[in-house]
Amino acid sequence: MEYLYQAGKPEGKKFILLHGTGGDETSLVDLAKVLDADSTILSFRGKIEEDGMNRFFKRNGLNQFDFESLEKETDNLLEVITEISAEKGIPLEDWILVGYSNGANIAAHLLLERETTLSKGIFFHPMSLEVHTQSFILADKKIWVSYGGAQDPIVSDESFAELVAAFRDRDADITVVETPYGHQVSMDEVQNAREWLKG
Ligand code: MLT
Repeated sequence: MEYLYQAGKPEGKKFILLHGTGGDETSLVDLAKVLDADSTILSFRGKIEEDGMNRFFKRNGLNQFDFESLEKETDNLLEVITEISAEKGIPLEDWILVGYSNGANIAAHLLLERETTLSKGIFFHPMSLEVHTQSFILADKKIWVSYGGAQDPIVSDESFAELVAAFRDRDADITVVETPYGHQVSMDEVQNAREWLKG
């Protein structure tokens, strides 16, 4: 998997960045620097190509997910994160997964469906992928999620609520932020996530 690694200051946060459909490993770097200017960054490029756009798993149309690809790519992502973390000497529990849209979706799926010590996530505009095969408790997870409200053409109220419930019902500590800007990431919500990280 293609990735970008930038070491930050030792006391800085450690971010794993996962872009939205059509992005690449550079897409969320500026956002990460707003979250923490001293951060270390491990940023992936989704290796699935859809009409020239990078994604983290296949789909067969808008919100019609290829579940075989989703499971395969989730395993692959966790394996690569584990390998790079060992190589860089960064414990898995030190990372904060930061994803937008498609990248947020695979990251949330990873935390819900794989037993891992990865334990923090900032997910911009994620949705439920409607896969709920696991029931292990998520009390070690701290999650921040944002939702673009009725203006979001991709994430419905129901789908977002289902994702929040999936975390909450299994005891994750989840913070929800609603914005009026649809699927776009706004500076307001980035600032909110920054404050959440400090707390
Ligand atoms: C997805 O495919 O993961 C969601 O529809 C979000 C997106 O379009 O990237």
